[in-house]
Amino acid sequence: MGYRILVVDDEENMRKLLHRVLTKESYEVRMAESGSEALRLLREEEFDLIISDLVMPVLSGMDLMREAKSRQTDVQFILITAHGTIGSAVEAMKAGAFDYLTKPVGKEEILRAVHKALQFGQLRQEVRKLRAELRTRQEFKEIVFASKEMESVLKLIDKIADSQATVLILGESGTGKELVARAIHEANRQRKGPFVAVDCSALPEHLLQSELFGHVKGAFTGAVKDNKGLFLAASGGTLFLDEIGNIAPPVQLNLLRVLQEREIKPVGSVQSMRVDVRVLAATNVDLERAMREGKFRRDLYYRLSVVAVQVPPLRARRADLAPLAYHFMNKYAAAYQKQLTDISPAALSAISEYPWPGNVRELENVIERAVLLSPGPHIEEPALAFSPSALTDAGDAAPSRETLRQMSREKEKEVLLAALRQAGGNRSQAAKQLGISRSSLYNKLKELDLREADGPARPIH
Ligand SMILES: Nc1ncnc2c1ncn2[C@@H]1O[C@H](COP(=O)(O)OP(=O)(O)OP(=O)(O)O)[C@@H](O)[C@H]1O
Ligand SMILES: [Mg+2]
Repeated sequence: MGYRILVVDDEENMRKLLHRVLTKESYEVRMAESGSEALRLLREEEFDLIISDLVMPVLSGMDLMREAKSRQTDVQFILITAHGTIGSAVEAMKAGAFDYLTKPVGKEEILRAVHKALQFGQLRQEVRKLRAELRTRQEFKEIVFASKEMESVLKLIDKIADSQATVLILGESGTGKELVARAIHEANRQRKGPFVAVDCSALPEHLLQSELFGHVKGAFTGAVKDNKGLFLAASGGTLFLDEIGNIAPPVQLNLLRVLQEREIKPVGSVQSMRVDVRVLAATNVDLERAMREGKFRRDLYYRLSVVAVQVPPLRARRADLAPLAYHFMNKYAAAYQKQLTDISPAALSAISEYPWPGNVRELENVIERAVLLSPGPHIEEPALAFSPSALTDAGDAAPSRETLRQMSREKEKEVLLAALRQAGGNRSQAAKQLGISRSSLYNKLKELDLREADGPARPIH
């Protein structure tokens, strides 16, 4: 069954007995003569269960249990004790042992205890795994996505969340950079301090300096009292420097110093203060170009981009369009108390054809307006008001008939796949959502060569 058991006893007879009984049941068994040998094995291998004598010279069974549990949290423990030491066996149970056996031990008794302990350990592991999954789902619950592109962004977020590394979030306007920054903060299990966001482009240079680093009373006209600044306000938490691409050179220099030295000097003060803040920064400016043009310091860029997260534009992850559209429909239908249950296939297809230069923010605005305008129960195409300039841009290419057919095939494919994905692979539900019958969905899928290879990872029912 693949369970790994470590037997620890200084008595050879006992080790032999346990080894015989357990290997017969196809458990994988390792043996140690002493607590310290067991610890050595624990450093090298993982075990599901340890069966250990309670009274051993040097390292007792209790000590071994504490050590072992601190190294392998899920390992279960069964202690073996002589009659005279039942009192300490009870203590051991209180300290986290699963069970104890009293010498002389019988075969059946051993196997029963082992079986239960392993089952318990397995359940505990499962519960822990489920909790961890729940945690990640809840943390990212606001980020709606179906595309592979966003999935890798979220994977990266999960990987870096717990580190203290500075993260630079790059992406066009409206792609969800702030959402990503919040997700990084929320997924961090250590930093329970505040999430403080500052829009660096909104303030003139000298105000930004004192906003960030603070100032002392009288540092400049208008500084009527001390201001501790956002770096200190975010202490123990995360400071999100939004629109970092446009900050003036003197602020860039100060920022660089703070990131290097982890100290701030409030404007007008001679004293430095230590800061404990994780810094995230975002920009939609092409920093490579800004650096080439001498507008952005290269050293600051390197400091900020210990990790870089690139949020792709919406047109590069079209699989997200339908889920996002539905998400915003539900959001605004609830907000405006409108009975809207669906988006018509024509509207969905228009949504998937539009290039979305303003990305998710634009999609949100378009859907919000559509929700307001739609009588219900569906959002129909005329309710969608796209930006005319973007439409003309898209029309500039004047596609030929052939490419037009190809394009609409592609669109159809996208819409179908998005609907299937939204329905978790359930065809009946997807057909309903698209407003077509199950059989015409089936035919469409065949016509477009959409089989599992193109389809969602989940099986199609
Ligand atoms: N994947 C997503 N799921 C749900 N909502 C999203 C998603 N991406 C973005 N949004 C929403 O779209 C809007 C714009 O996102 P956000 O403010 O994070 O973009 P941004 O990249 O910071 O834009 P800018 O560069 O203009 O500041 C917000 O209302 C946000 O909640
Ligand atoms: Mg933003």
